[in-house]
Amino acid sequence: FNGRKVLLRVDFNVPVDEQHHITDDTRMREAMPTINKLMSDGAAVILMSHFGRPKNGFDPQFSLQMVVSHLEELVGRPVKFTQELLGPTVSKMAAELRPGEILLLENTRFYAGETKGDPQLAEEFAKLGDCFVNDAFGAAHREHASNAVIARFFPNDKYYGFLMEHEVSNLKRLMEQPQRPFTAIIGGSKVSSKIDILQNLVDKVDNMIIIGGMRYTFTKALG
Ligand code: 3PG
Repeated sequence: FNGRKVLLRVDFNVPVDEQHHITDDTRMREAMPTINKLMSDGAAVILMSHFGRPKNGFDPQFSLQMVVSHLEELVGRPVKFTQELLGPTVSKMAAELRPGEILLLENTRFYAGETKGDPQLAEEFAKLGDCFVNDAFGAAHREHASNAVIARFFPNDKYYGFLMEHEVSNLKRLMEQPQRPFTAIIGGSKVSSKIDILQNLVDKVDNMIIIGGMRYTFTKALG
């Protein structure tokens, strides 16, 4: 990736407390191997992520500004950031980004087209870099502009990162050659986005243990 401008989609949708302090940075730390690889190759890296579920455009409650200082600690160098959305300022910052520099774009969900998978928005994101790497495993089930749709604009120059590779190979091993007894412990607050996974897994596992917020949905269904 030497000398290249890489658009890297990550999942920095980390939990934060009321004072906007990150309470669990696992997702950020797990993106580091890919970021470090791109840095050591001599790439300029443009990071894209969603954060929360903002409904009406820009909202400071959902600004990725919250993760900038922690990201700087993790990468050990300054991170450029602007609360401006796509437009001349962002294009200029991206165009002027030098090898070894990192630019974090503002929350991709501030654009209505993101969650609709709008190809025009995806194309605008795509214009900022010259190749695309997806390492946002936590959002890979979403067909959104900045992860799935943008890849269409890099027909010969798209890759997945180490986090994605690691998760997919672990899942493949578990799905194809599990050691038995095979017990899945599944948590999460949003049953709506887990129900397909549960249905897919239920015939493959010997035991399934449901924990976290979604457990209450099952408790309610049981009366
Ligand atoms: C998550 O936290 O599950 C991922 O970042 C995806 O977020 P979403 O469920 O709001 O799409």
